[in-house]
Amino acid sequence: MLTIALSKGKLIESALDLFRRAGYTITGLSAESRRLIFISPEHDMTFLIVRPSDVPTYVEYGGADAGIVGKDVLMEQESDVYEPLDLGFGACRIAVAALKGEAAGGRLSPKVRIATKYPRITERYFNARGIPVEIIKLYGSIELAPVVGLADRIVDLVETGSTLKAHDLVEVEVIARSTARFIVNRASLRLKQESLMTLIRRLRAVVPSERPSSGNSRPKTLQTRKKKMVRS
Ligand code: PRP
Repeated sequence: MLTIALSKGKLIESALDLFRRAGYTITGLSAESRRLIFISPEHDMTFLIVRPSDVPTYVEYGGADAGIVGKDVLMEQESDVYEPLDLGFGACRIAVAALKGEAAGGRLSPKVRIATKYPRITERYFNARGIPVEIIKLYGSIELAPVVGLADRIVDLVETGSTLKAHDLVEVEVIARSTARFIVNRASLRLKQESLMTLIRRLRAVVPSERPSSGNSRPKTLQTRKKKMVRS
C-alpha cells in the first residue's frame, strides 16, 4: 500500500487529473470533499489531503511515501526528500514586489522590511546580495503589508499577477520559478521500490515533455553507489 500526500488548494485539481491520466481514478476523491483521507483498495493506495506546507513534512518523516507539492514550498523547507519528477503544472514565480512608484527603492530605510510567507528564501536571497533586511513572517494575504505600511516590500508567489495588480503593486525582481513536484520518502524508495517505480513511470508517461527535476532528483543510494564505482 502506498500513501500519497496531496496539497489542498491550487494544485489539487491538476494533481487529481494527473493521477486520472496515469490510470488511477480514485472513487470519491474530490477537491470539494471535507474528507482528508481516501483509501483506494483497487490501486492499493491511500491519499491524504494536507496543507501545501505540510506535504514535505509528511513525506520526509514517513507519514506518506510520496507527495505532490510546489517547488516554492520545497525551497523554503529544504526537506530531505527524493524529488524525481517536475510535473510542470502550477507554474508560478517567487518575486519581490513593491508599491508602484516605490519600486526603485529611493525612500527605503537602510534595513528593508519585507513581509513574506517565505522567510528562508527571502533571507538567503538578500543575504547573498549583502542587503540587510528585516523579515516579517505572515501566513497569507501578503499583498496587504505594503498597502498598510507594515513592510516596504513583499516576497510572494505570483501566478497571474492579478493580486499584485489589485493592490497597486509591481514586481521588482524574480527570485525563483516554481512548478509542482512529485516527491518521495527516501526509506520508502528502498522498502517499496517496485510500487514506487511503477507509479513514477506511469506519472512520467503522462507529464507533457517531462524534464528532469531541477531539485534532488537522484536517490542518495544511487549517488553514493556511483561515487564508489568511480573511486574503485
Ligand atoms: C497566492 C499568493 C498570492 C496569489 C498570487 O496566494 O500568495 O497572494 O496567490 O496569485 P495571482 O498572481 O494569480 O494573483 P493564495 O491564493 O495561496 O492565498 P494566501 O494569500 O492566503 O496565501
